[in-house]
Amino acid sequence: MLFTKLLIFIFSIQFIEAQNFYDKSPNIIELTPKNFEKVVHRTNYSTLVEFYAPWCGYCQKMKGVMERASKNLQDIVQVASVNCDLAKNKPLCAQYRIQGFPTLMVFRPPKVNFNKPTGDTPRLSNHASEVYKGERKLRPIVDFSVSRVKNYVKRLLRLEKLSDAIKDKTKRYSVVLFAKKENTSPLYKSIALDWLGTLEFFTIANNKVNKLTDFDLKTHPNIETYIKGIINTVNPGDSSRLVVFDGQEDKYYVFDGESFNKVEIAKFLSNFAQANEGPLTKRQEFLDHLKLGGAKNKKSSKSIIHDEL
Ligand SMILES: *[C@@H]1O[C@H](CO)[C@@H](O)[C@H](O)[C@H]1NC(C)=O
Repeated sequence: MLFTKLLIFIFSIQFIEAQNFYDKSPNIIELTPKNFEKVVHRTNYSTLVEFYAPWCGYCQKMKGVMERASKNLQDIVQVASVNCDLAKNKPLCAQYRIQGFPTLMVFRPPKVNFNKPTGDTPRLSNHASEVYKGERKLRPIVDFSVSRVKNYVKRLLRLEKLSDAIKDKTKRYSVVLFAKKENTSPLYKSIALDWLGTLEFFTIANNKVNKLTDFDLKTHPNIETYIKGIINTVNPGDSSRLVVFDGQEDKYYVFDGESFNKVEIAKFLSNFAQANEGPLTKRQEFLDHLKLGGAKNKKSSKSIIHDEL
């Protein structure tokens, strides 16, 4: 009798130790050697990874912070974890020289250089990893992760640059955000990642638009009229507007979704080109599948609404 109880006791300890922290977290992927490469390295996104052990007290304290961080970073930085207590994961934890728990690392893709005259399609090599050494608090972790997002959005300081992009015959579409804010938002950067190599993204702050006079698009009268309308009426405080210019057909399309929700924007941009990543892609299905893998009753996370693009 006592012996059986003891057995159950020992068994349950091992069971507890083997449990992953984030099987029920809708935004965190529990990684294994089988999916690590594909999730972390085969993407243009950056990834925050927590290496942890379920028995470690600091890790238990971090759990809530990680969950909140993953919500803050949703759609912008991938969030994942490795349970270093599992035998199958130990090679991964050794490979990244994990010595203490928790260890937070951010994996960052190499910059794709489209101007390289090689003619090769840009290839992904391994992401660079960087250990996070800051405070184990929500804000600093989120800020650090966001600062590691690659930026492919071009900032237009003069509208003249926009007319150059529209006239450029090698690229049909230019996606332009007439933005309320001067700084490019992480969400907009992440959208540029989704269409990397297929659509070009620009941003110009509303308060820069009305200062522009050097604007000439005689070759594109429809687009010219539209942009002149913006120049004449825009106020710095106006909410952002997202417009796709078709330089080939002299047409423009204004995003009219209710809010800058990533799924809505993805639907809109899919009319012009197919995304590599992000909502509505095979890759997203794969990631959702992994996120849902841990628990059957886990709810799929919905795309969150960022109040300002
Ligand atoms: C990353 O960007 C490159 C360059 O455009 C693209 O070819 C590749 O498909 C992207 N990677 C993924 C996983 O979508």
